[in-house]
Amino acid sequence: MTIRSVILGTGSCLPERTMTNKDLEAIVDTSDEWIVQRTGIRERRIAADGQTTADMAIESARHALQAAGLHGADIDGVIVATSTPDTTFPSVAVKVQAALNICQGPAFDVHAVCAGFIYALTVADSLLRTGVARRLLVVGAEKMSSILNWEDRTTCVLFGDGAGALVLEAQEGRGEIADRGIISTHLHADGHLRDILYVNGGVSSTQTAGHIVMEGKEVFRHAVALMADVVTEAMSHNGIGPEEIDWLVPHQANIRIIEGTARKLDVRLDQVILTVDRHGNTSAASIPLALDEAVRDGRIQRGHLMLLEALGSGLTWGAALIRY
Ligand code: UT7
Repeated sequence: MTIRSVILGTGSCLPERTMTNKDLEAIVDTSDEWIVQRTGIRERRIAADGQTTADMAIESARHALQAAGLHGADIDGVIVATSTPDTTFPSVAVKVQAALNICQGPAFDVHAVCAGFIYALTVADSLLRTGVARRLLVVGAEKMSSILNWEDRTTCVLFGDGAGALVLEAQEGRGEIADRGIISTHLHADGHLRDILYVNGGVSSTQTAGHIVMEGKEVFRHAVALMADVVTEAMSHNGIGPEEIDWLVPHQANIRIIEGTARKLDVRLDQVILTVDRHGNTSAASIPLALDEAVRDGRIQRGHLMLLEALGSGLTWGAALIRY
């Protein structure tokens, strides 16, 4: 018997405030035309002053529980992927646990930046498959606006805030690709590339939160190559070709990176879930936000095979093959 981690419900939370490219023209020397052409981003959501990462995580998790028809007491543990926690400790995950009255199983954050949701899914899948837990909430939540330098046009136009969540349950599978649930996950990191995308502050260095610093072109170059590698790895590990993939659900950093990966994979653009135009890059939240949108609007249906992929600071990157 094989245990599979099956998605029971999805949820998301986007802050009310929309910031358009036109709004950014009033803040830095940029233009709607440059941002759309280079990134595909038209607008992003920005959290209200008092609205924290945990607030968004809790709301997205509540919606995922509702979609699954479950209550907090039905859940064994919480994993939150985030790089923008409310406090250095305790974790965002324990706030979600307390707010939703989830029982006293594990609750912790995973910090792998834009690849964080794939990392969190992998940890959750391991806990479910080894019998440590039966149902887990996995959340990606970020308040990227709080680590942006609003005078740096090369970064502040790229990011947004939000959260997305999934409820996973351990169910019996047959060990086949036709099973519902997480089929496989693939994680990588290369710390030698940590200086091309980082935050210039932290608890043990500057005692400040710091701001995002990025060599965009270098990250772009690695992103196109490494994401193509990891999706190829996921397919060959499972002995499938691109024709078997129903949906590509990529990290939403840049439409040109997403199109590059889709081209290499030979996946049509109408098989790619895209939110980058409206959300910008929400780091660990971008994949669960995209997934929830496509599940709710009926594109992703039970039985569909999805390939999730992401790359972020570290560099960290990964992919997950999941049958919804
Ligand atoms: O989620 C984590 C992973 N992150 C990513 O995947 C991001 C990867 N990188 C990228 O998406 C792209 O590299 C960017 C969108 C960040 C930049 O696009 P680019 O085509 O690589 O542009 P560039 O950095 O080479 O800049 C081109 C020009 C420069 O001017 P000069 O030197 O040619 O005169 C920049 O100063 O565009 C200028 N520029 C801007 N102009 C208007 C940079 N930012 C802006 C801006 N508005 N916001």
